[in-house]
Amino acid sequence: MLDRLEPQSPDALLALIKLHAADDRPDKVDLGVGVYRTGQGDTPVFGAIKAAERLLVDTQESKSYLGPEGDIGFVNALMPYIFGSDATMGGRIAGMQTPGGTGAVRLAVALAQKAGLKKLHMGTPSWPNHAQIFADLDLEWAPFDHAAADGTANLDAVLAAIRSAGPDEGILLHACCHNPTGIDYTPEQWEAIGDAIAETGIFPIIDSAYQGLGNGMEEDAAGLRSVLAKVPEAFIAYSCDKNFGMYRDRVGAFYILADGGDTLDKAFSNANALARASWSMPPDHGAAAVRLILRDPAMTAQWLDELDQMRARMNQVRARLAEAGTAGSVDLTPLGHQNGLFSMLPVTKEQVVELREKHGIYMAGSGRINVAGLTMDNIDKFIAAIADVTG
Ligand code: LMR
Repeated sequence: MLDRLEPQSPDALLALIKLHAADDRPDKVDLGVGVYRTGQGDTPVFGAIKAAERLLVDTQESKSYLGPEGDIGFVNALMPYIFGSDATMGGRIAGMQTPGGTGAVRLAVALAQKAGLKKLHMGTPSWPNHAQIFADLDLEWAPFDHAAADGTANLDAVLAAIRSAGPDEGILLHACCHNPTGIDYTPEQWEAIGDAIAETGIFPIIDSAYQGLGNGMEEDAAGLRSVLAKVPEAFIAYSCDKNFGMYRDRVGAFYILADGGDTLDKAFSNANALARASWSMPPDHGAAAVRLILRDPAMTAQWLDELDQMRARMNQVRARLAEAGTAGSVDLTPLGHQNGLFSMLPVTKEQVVELREKHGIYMAGSGRINVAGLTMDNIDKFIAAIADVTG
């Protein structure tokens, strides 16, 4: 039976991790998968997480089962950061823990499908795993251009996609730090998007995987909040893997916005059933550590400070790239005002291979770079290499 299966190529982003590890050049540069790196090139465990983990070891009394919704203390503690001071929007939001942001996106799409979703609209390029999830769930989707030719977010394209949608269609939006372009909608664009969603009734799914890595925790939630304030229903997929540095611990959450009472309860019970049939219960450890941080003002302050330092370092790298102006045929100046870990360079697949083989610089075939992989020690080498392969 198994012989009928077609071989699948490994996920291209994850394959880069192995390729990079196998390269023994000491000055290799990893700009591939989206993990934060310090100026020394490390991805350390947050100090606040270490403190929370110690507390967890000392105080956790049981590892008995929780339930498909996971650690509800964690889910609730995150809500004011995502949704603001009226964290349940008047009792209209309910959430559950998921295995990472990917678990949340998958649950969001599967639940929307169960409720009748026929087609999703999504700006491209996007995180490649979005389309892989849609394909795996057999969901039709339609791309629109995320970015305009001038390097800003393409408002006309997203509005046209929203207005073109028929009944039972949805749209997937990135809350902040757009992956892979780093190009986010402006507050005015978010308002217009929210208005169009409200007018047409298209179902919004908002993926928030990088809150705090762009302009700040509050600033990075503003677009999402402005849409939610206008619509009756939405799904939100959330990841703590980047803003708490929990990558391999898989810490995510899924939230449902619906009219309160019956509708919210029905939707939540279906999310629970889907989670039970998929992973039964999410892994506990990382979410429990995040809950401990968010319940303790001193640990919260430490976490926010560590997040500020990450953002400051990425902004420093971005400023340095923008200052360089051009490298060969590549204009680096737009990187200065883009957000988060990622930006796209206008390089060909062949140039990406040349960067890897000749210069030991690893980046996604799409031209996406993780700016956090650049340090004050390797940034000049990177700029020179871009000039070399594109000049
Ligand atoms: C990325 O885009 O590099 C990250 O979101 C990691 C992943 O799972 O792909």
